[in-house]
Amino acid sequence: MKEELMRLKDKTIEVLSNSKNIDQLNDLKVKVLGKKGELTHILRGMSRLVPEERPILGKMANEVKESLEQKFSEKAQVLKEALKERKMAEEYIDVTIPSMVNLGNKHPLTLVLDEIRDIFTGLGYQVMEGPEIELDYYNFEALNTPKDHPARDVQDTFYITEEILLRTQTSPVQVRTMERQQPPLKIIAPGRVFRSDAVDATHSPMFHQVEGLAIGEGFTMGDLKGTLVAFIKEMFGDDRKSRFRPHFFPFTEPSAEVDISCIACHGEGCRICSYTGWLEILGCGMVHPNVLKNVGHDPEKINGFAFGMGVERIAMLKYGINDLRLFYENDLRFLRQF
Ligand code: DAH
Repeated sequence: MKEELMRLKDKTIEVLSNSKNIDQLNDLKVKVLGKKGELTHILRGMSRLVPEERPILGKMANEVKESLEQKFSEKAQVLKEALKERKMAEEYIDVTIPSMVNLGNKHPLTLVLDEIRDIFTGLGYQVMEGPEIELDYYNFEALNTPKDHPARDVQDTFYITEEILLRTQTSPVQVRTMERQQPPLKIIAPGRVFRSDAVDATHSPMFHQVEGLAIGEGFTMGDLKGTLVAFIKEMFGDDRKSRFRPHFFPFTEPSAEVDISCIACHGEGCRICSYTGWLEILGCGMVHPNVLKNVGHDPEKINGFAFGMGVERIAMLKYGINDLRLFYENDLRFLRQF
Protein backbone atom coordinates (compact mmCIF):
# COMPACT_ATOMS: atom_id res chain seq x y z
CA MET A 1 0.00 0.00 0.00
CA LYS A 2 2.96 2.23 0.69
CA GLU A 3 4.14 1.66 -2.81
CA GLU A 4 0.70 2.37 -4.20
CA LEU A 5 0.72 5.68 -2.39
CA MET A 6 4.19 6.53 -3.64
CA ARG A 7 3.31 5.60 -7.19
CA LEU A 8 0.18 7.72 -7.01
CA LYS A 9 2.22 10.62 -5.71
CA ASP A 10 4.93 10.38 -8.37
CA LYS A 11 2.48 9.83 -11.22
CA THR A 12 0.31 12.73 -10.10
CA ILE A 13 3.28 15.08 -9.84
CA GLU A 14 4.38 14.13 -13.32
CA VAL A 15 0.98 14.64 -14.94
CA LEU A 16 0.44 17.77 -12.90
CA SER A 17 3.64 19.39 -14.07
CA ASN A 18 2.58 18.82 -17.66
CA SER A 19 -0.87 20.42 -17.20
CA LYS A 20 -1.42 23.12 -19.77
CA ASN A 21 -4.27 25.02 -18.14
CA ILE A 22 -6.38 25.43 -15.02
CA ASP A 23 -9.17 23.17 -16.29
CA GLN A 24 -6.81 20.26 -16.89
CA LEU A 25 -5.30 20.84 -13.47
CA ASN A 26 -8.67 20.91 -11.73
CA ASP A 27 -9.78 17.72 -13.47
CA LEU A 28 -6.64 15.99 -12.29
CA LYS A 29 -7.14 17.23 -8.75
CA VAL A 30 -10.65 15.81 -8.61
CA LYS A 31 -9.46 12.55 -10.10
CA VAL A 32 -6.72 12.13 -7.47
CA LEU A 33 -7.83 13.95 -4.33
CA GLY A 34 -11.61 14.11 -4.82
CA LYS A 35 -14.11 12.22 -2.69
CA LYS A 36 -14.22 9.39 -5.18
CA GLY A 37 -10.62 9.91 -6.21
CA GLU A 38 -7.67 7.56 -6.41
CA LEU A 39 -6.32 8.46 -2.97
CA THR A 40 -9.63 7.60 -1.30
CA HIS A 41 -9.66 4.42 -3.28
CA ILE A 42 -6.25 3.40 -1.91
CA LEU A 43 -7.23 4.32 1.64
CA ARG A 44 -10.18 1.94 1.46
CA GLY A 45 -7.60 -0.86 1.52
CA MET A 46 -6.56 0.18 5.07
CA SER A 47 -9.07 -2.23 6.54
CA ARG A 48 -6.95 -5.06 5.24
CA LEU A 49 -3.93 -3.87 7.22
CA VAL A 50 -2.85 -5.04 10.65
CA PRO A 51 -3.82 -2.49 13.34
CA GLU A 52 -0.19 -1.40 14.06
CA GLU A 53 0.37 -0.40 10.48
CA ARG A 54 -2.75 1.66 10.14
CA PRO A 55 -1.56 4.86 11.90
CA ILE A 56 1.72 4.77 9.97
CA LEU A 57 -0.10 4.43 6.67
CA GLY A 58 -2.64 7.02 7.73
CA LYS A 59 0.13 9.51 8.47
CA MET A 60 1.78 8.75 5.18
CA ALA A 61 -1.46 9.17 3.27
CA ASN A 62 -1.94 12.57 4.92
CA GLU A 63 1.55 13.64 3.98
CA VAL A 64 0.97 12.58 0.38
CA LYS A 65 -2.30 14.42 0.36
CA GLU A 66 -0.82 17.59 1.81
CA SER A 67 2.18 17.58 -0.44
CA LEU A 68 -0.03 17.03 -3.51
CA GLU A 69 -2.35 19.80 -2.45
CA GLN A 70 0.68 22.06 -2.14
CA LYS A 71 1.84 21.09 -5.63
CA PHE A 72 -1.62 21.69 -7.07
CA SER A 73 -1.85 25.15 -5.61
CA GLU A 74 1.67 26.05 -6.75
CA LYS A 75 0.92 24.87 -10.26
CA ALA A 76 -2.42 26.71 -10.26
CA GLN A 77 -0.56 29.91 -9.36
CA VAL A 78 1.94 29.41 -12.19
CA LEU A 79 -0.84 28.76 -14.71
CA LYS A 80 -2.80 31.82 -13.57
CA GLU A 81 0.27 34.01 -13.95
CA ALA A 82 0.92 32.62 -17.42
CA LEU A 83 -2.67 33.29 -18.42
CA LYS A 84 -2.42 36.88 -17.19
CA GLU A 85 0.83 37.41 -19.10
CA ARG A 86 -0.71 36.05 -22.26
CA LYS A 87 -3.76 38.31 -21.94
CA MET A 88 -1.57 41.34 -21.33
CA ALA A 89 0.45 40.54 -24.43
CA GLU A 90 -2.68 40.04 -26.54
CA GLU A 91 -4.39 43.20 -25.35
CA TYR A 92 -1.34 45.41 -25.53
CA ILE A 93 -1.97 48.72 -27.22
CA ASP A 94 0.92 50.83 -28.39
CA VAL A 95 -0.40 54.33 -27.88
CA THR A 96 2.63 55.76 -29.67
CA ILE A 97 1.69 54.26 -33.06
CA PRO A 98 0.58 57.10 -35.36
CA SER A 99 -3.21 57.05 -35.83
CA MET A 100 -4.51 55.73 -39.14
CA VAL A 101 -8.09 56.74 -38.33
CA ASN A 102 -9.79 59.02 -40.86
CA LEU A 103 -11.00 61.91 -38.74
CA GLY A 104 -13.19 63.38 -41.45
CA ASN A 105 -13.05 66.94 -42.65
CA LYS A 106 -15.16 70.03 -43.09
CA HIS A 107 -17.77 70.25 -45.81
CA PRO A 108 -16.67 72.54 -48.66
CA LEU A 109 -19.53 74.95 -47.89
CA THR A 110 -18.39 75.15 -44.27
CA LEU A 111 -14.83 75.80 -45.44
CA VAL A 112 -15.97 78.66 -47.66
CA LEU A 113 -18.28 80.08 -44.99
CA ASP A 114 -15.47 79.95 -42.43
CA GLU A 115 -13.20 81.77 -44.83
CA ILE A 116 -15.76 84.48 -45.63
CA ARG A 117 -16.38 84.93 -41.91
CA ASP A 118 -12.63 85.17 -41.19
CA ILE A 119 -12.06 87.78 -43.87
CA PHE A 120 -14.90 90.05 -42.73
CA THR A 121 -14.31 89.70 -39.00
CA GLY A 122 -10.72 90.64 -39.85
CA LEU A 123 -12.14 93.85 -41.33
CA GLY A 124 -14.05 94.55 -38.12
CA TYR A 125 -17.42 93.06 -39.06
CA GLN A 126 -19.75 91.45 -36.50
CA VAL A 127 -21.52 88.18 -37.35
CA MET A 128 -25.32 88.30 -37.00
CA GLU A 129 -28.10 85.78 -37.50
CA GLY A 130 -31.77 86.03 -38.32
CA PRO A 131 -34.72 83.63 -38.55
CA GLU A 132 -35.18 81.33 -41.54
CA ILE A 133 -38.95 81.60 -41.11
CA GLU A 134 -39.45 85.28 -41.70
CA LEU A 135 -42.14 87.90 -41.92
CA ASP A 136 -43.05 89.23 -45.34
CA TYR A 137 -42.33 92.65 -43.83
CA TYR A 138 -38.62 91.96 -43.23
CA ASN A 139 -38.04 89.85 -46.32
CA PHE A 140 -39.69 92.27 -48.76
CA GLU A 141 -41.61 95.27 -47.46
CA ALA A 142 -38.92 96.88 -45.31
CA LEU A 143 -36.41 96.21 -48.08
CA ASN A 144 -38.28 98.52 -50.43
CA THR A 145 -39.66 95.60 -52.42
CA PRO A 146 -43.22 96.53 -53.40
CA LYS A 147 -46.20 94.17 -53.41
CA ASP A 148 -46.12 93.74 -57.19
CA HIS A 149 -42.42 92.86 -57.37
CA PRO A 150 -41.89 89.58 -59.29
CA ALA A 151 -39.70 88.11 -56.48
CA ARG A 152 -42.80 88.09 -54.28
CA ASP A 153 -44.61 85.72 -56.59
CA VAL A 154 -45.51 82.27 -55.18
CA GLN A 155 -43.52 80.92 -58.12
CA ASP A 156 -40.36 82.04 -56.32
CA THR A 157 -41.23 82.12 -52.64
CA PHE A 158 -42.38 79.49 -50.14
CA TYR A 159 -45.25 81.15 -48.28
CA ILE A 160 -46.45 79.74 -44.96
CA THR A 161 -49.26 82.25 -44.59
CA GLU A 162 -49.81 85.50 -46.45
CA GLU A 163 -47.52 87.28 -43.98
CA ILE A 164 -45.04 84.51 -43.10
CA LEU A 165 -42.59 82.86 -45.48
CA LEU A 166 -39.24 81.08 -45.72
CA ARG A 167 -36.77 83.89 -46.28
CA THR A 168 -35.63 84.13 -49.88
CA GLN A 169 -32.49 86.08 -48.97
CA THR A 170 -30.40 87.02 -45.93
CA SER A 171 -31.11 90.73 -46.56
CA PRO A 172 -33.88 90.86 -43.87
CA VAL A 173 -31.11 90.52 -41.26
CA GLN A 174 -29.99 94.02 -42.35
CA VAL A 175 -33.31 95.44 -41.23
CA ARG A 176 -33.55 93.41 -38.03
CA THR A 177 -30.04 94.53 -37.03
CA MET A 178 -30.62 98.20 -37.81
CA GLU A 179 -33.81 98.13 -35.71
CA ARG A 180 -31.80 97.00 -32.67
CA GLN A 181 -28.34 98.50 -33.08
CA GLN A 182 -27.38 102.09 -33.74
CA PRO A 183 -24.75 103.08 -36.33
CA PRO A 184 -21.85 102.91 -36.90
CA LEU A 185 -22.50 99.29 -37.78
CA LYS A 186 -20.62 96.66 -39.78
CA ILE A 187 -22.19 93.21 -39.94
CA ILE A 188 -22.30 90.06 -42.00
CA ALA A 189 -25.19 87.61 -41.78
CA PRO A 190 -24.57 84.09 -43.06
CA GLY A 191 -27.45 81.64 -43.35
CA ARG A 192 -29.82 79.47 -45.32
CA VAL A 193 -32.31 80.87 -47.80
CA PHE A 194 -35.17 79.21 -49.67
CA ARG A 195 -36.67 79.57 -53.10
CA SER A 196 -39.34 77.65 -54.91
CA ASP A 197 -36.93 76.18 -57.47
CA ALA A 198 -36.63 72.67 -58.87
CA VAL A 199 -33.27 71.01 -58.30
CA ASP A 200 -30.78 71.02 -61.14
CA ALA A 201 -27.07 71.69 -61.65
CA THR A 202 -27.45 75.36 -60.78
CA HIS A 203 -30.67 75.53 -58.70
CA SER A 204 -31.71 74.27 -55.29
CA PRO A 205 -34.76 75.12 -53.13
CA MET A 206 -32.30 75.78 -50.29
CA PHE A 207 -28.91 77.40 -50.47
CA HIS A 208 -26.67 79.68 -48.44
CA GLN A 209 -25.99 83.38 -48.57
CA VAL A 210 -23.84 85.85 -46.72
CA GLU A 211 -25.28 89.32 -46.34
CA GLY A 212 -23.14 92.35 -45.55
CA LEU A 213 -24.10 95.78 -44.23
CA ALA A 214 -22.07 98.81 -43.18
CA ILE A 215 -23.77 102.02 -42.11
CA GLY A 216 -22.62 105.20 -40.46
CA GLU A 217 -21.83 108.69 -41.66
CA GLY A 218 -20.32 109.63 -44.98
CA PHE A 219 -19.96 106.23 -46.65
CA THR A 220 -19.23 106.24 -50.38
CA MET A 221 -19.18 103.75 -53.26
CA GLY A 222 -15.39 103.91 -52.81
CA ASP A 223 -15.75 102.28 -49.38
CA LEU A 224 -17.95 99.58 -50.86
CA LYS A 225 -15.51 98.94 -53.69
CA GLY A 226 -12.44 98.90 -51.45
CA THR A 227 -14.08 96.43 -49.10
CA LEU A 228 -15.22 94.02 -51.79
CA VAL A 229 -11.98 94.16 -53.78
CA ALA A 230 -10.09 93.34 -50.56
CA PHE A 231 -12.48 90.43 -49.98
CA ILE A 232 -12.08 89.10 -53.53
CA LYS A 233 -8.29 89.21 -53.35
CA GLU A 234 -8.29 87.34 -50.04
CA MET A 235 -10.76 84.78 -51.32
CA PHE A 236 -9.54 84.21 -54.88
CA GLY A 237 -5.92 85.39 -54.83
CA ASP A 238 -4.07 88.66 -55.35
CA ASP A 239 -4.02 88.51 -59.14
CA ARG A 240 -7.81 88.04 -59.45
CA LYS A 241 -9.37 90.92 -61.38
CA SER A 242 -12.83 92.25 -60.56
CA ARG A 243 -15.29 94.68 -62.06
CA PHE A 244 -18.44 96.44 -60.91
CA ARG A 245 -21.37 96.39 -63.32
CA PRO A 246 -24.47 98.60 -62.85
CA HIS A 247 -27.50 96.57 -61.80
CA PHE A 248 -30.82 96.92 -60.01
CA PHE A 249 -31.85 95.81 -56.52
CA PRO A 250 -34.87 97.33 -54.77
CA PHE A 251 -32.98 97.88 -51.50
CA THR A 252 -29.87 99.60 -52.89
CA GLU A 253 -29.36 102.70 -55.04
CA PRO A 254 -27.12 102.75 -56.94
CA SER A 255 -26.71 98.98 -57.25
CA ALA A 256 -24.06 96.86 -58.88
CA GLU A 257 -23.13 93.32 -59.61
CA VAL A 258 -19.54 92.29 -59.13
CA ASP A 259 -17.72 89.96 -61.51
CA ILE A 260 -14.32 88.31 -61.13
CA SER A 261 -12.05 87.28 -63.98
CA CYS A 262 -12.89 83.72 -65.02
CA ILE A 263 -11.22 81.11 -62.83
CA ALA A 264 -10.78 78.77 -65.79
CA CYS A 265 -9.52 81.03 -68.58
CA HIS A 266 -8.40 84.09 -66.56
CA GLY A 267 -10.32 86.41 -68.85
CA GLU A 268 -9.55 84.89 -72.25
CA GLY A 269 -13.11 83.62 -72.69
CA CYS A 270 -14.21 80.01 -72.38
CA ARG A 271 -17.32 77.86 -71.96
CA ILE A 272 -17.42 78.38 -68.17
CA CYS A 273 -17.71 82.17 -68.48
CA SER A 274 -19.82 81.99 -71.66
CA TYR A 275 -16.89 83.53 -73.51
CA THR A 276 -17.13 86.82 -71.57
CA GLY A 277 -14.01 86.30 -69.46
CA TRP A 278 -16.05 87.22 -66.33
CA LEU A 279 -18.06 85.41 -63.66
CA GLU A 280 -20.66 87.11 -61.49
CA ILE A 281 -20.10 86.58 -57.78
CA LEU A 282 -22.23 89.02 -55.80
CA GLY A 283 -24.71 91.88 -55.67
CA CYS A 284 -24.18 95.14 -53.82
CA GLY A 285 -25.01 98.81 -53.61
CA MET A 286 -25.57 101.86 -51.41
CA VAL A 287 -28.41 101.23 -48.95
CA HIS A 288 -31.62 102.70 -50.40
CA PRO A 289 -32.91 105.80 -48.54
CA ASN A 290 -36.29 104.08 -48.08
CA VAL A 291 -34.66 101.18 -46.23
CA LEU A 292 -32.93 103.62 -43.90
CA LYS A 293 -36.21 105.49 -43.36
CA ASN A 294 -38.00 102.21 -42.53
CA VAL A 295 -35.73 101.74 -39.52
CA GLY A 296 -36.00 105.38 -38.45
CA HIS A 297 -32.79 106.84 -39.87
CA ASP A 298 -32.50 110.17 -41.66
CA PRO A 299 -30.86 109.23 -45.01
CA GLU A 300 -29.35 112.73 -45.15
CA LYS A 301 -27.28 111.88 -42.06
CA ILE A 302 -26.88 108.11 -42.04
CA ASN A 303 -25.90 106.07 -45.06
CA GLY A 304 -23.94 102.98 -45.99
CA PHE A 305 -23.51 100.03 -48.29
CA ALA A 306 -24.74 96.45 -48.48
CA PHE A 307 -23.80 93.32 -50.35
CA GLY A 308 -25.01 89.76 -50.69
CA MET A 309 -23.34 86.65 -52.03
CA GLY A 310 -24.24 82.99 -52.60
CA VAL A 311 -21.95 80.63 -50.69
CA GLU A 312 -22.53 77.70 -53.08
CA ARG A 313 -21.65 79.89 -56.03
CA ILE A 314 -18.41 81.05 -54.43
CA ALA A 315 -17.50 77.47 -53.47
CA MET A 316 -18.20 76.30 -57.03
CA LEU A 317 -15.94 79.01 -58.44
CA LYS A 318 -13.23 78.51 -55.86
CA TYR A 319 -13.03 74.73 -56.19
CA GLY A 320 -14.12 74.35 -59.80
CA ILE A 321 -17.32 72.43 -58.98
CA ASN A 322 -19.83 72.33 -61.81
CA ASP A 323 -22.92 70.84 -60.18
CA LEU A 324 -24.70 72.31 -57.15
CA ARG A 325 -26.21 68.94 -56.22
CA LEU A 326 -22.79 67.63 -55.21
CA PHE A 327 -22.95 69.81 -52.09
CA TYR A 328 -26.04 68.07 -50.74
CA GLU A 329 -25.58 64.43 -51.75
CA ASN A 330 -22.95 63.63 -49.10
CA ASP A 331 -21.01 61.37 -51.43
CA LEU A 332 -17.78 60.64 -49.54
CA ARG A 333 -15.80 60.46 -52.77
CA PHE A 334 -16.70 64.12 -53.29
CA LEU A 335 -16.40 65.27 -49.67
CA ARG A 336 -12.98 63.66 -49.10
CA GLN A 337 -11.42 65.97 -51.69
CA PHE A 338 -11.58 69.02 -49.44
N1 DAH B 1 -30.44 89.70 -51.63
C1 DAH B 1 -29.90 89.66 -52.96
C2 DAH B 1 -30.26 88.35 -53.61
O1 DAH B 1 -30.67 87.45 -52.95
C3 DAH B 1 -28.41 89.83 -52.93
C4 DAH B 1 -28.02 91.22 -52.58
C5 DAH B 1 -27.80 92.15 -53.59
C6 DAH B 1 -27.88 91.63 -51.27
C7 DAH B 1 -27.44 93.44 -53.30
C8 DAH B 1 -27.50 92.92 -50.96
C9 DAH B 1 -27.29 93.82 -52.00
O2 DAH B 1 -27.35 93.35 -49.71
O3 DAH B 1 -26.93 95.09 -51.68
O4 DAH B 1 -30.13 88.23 -54.80
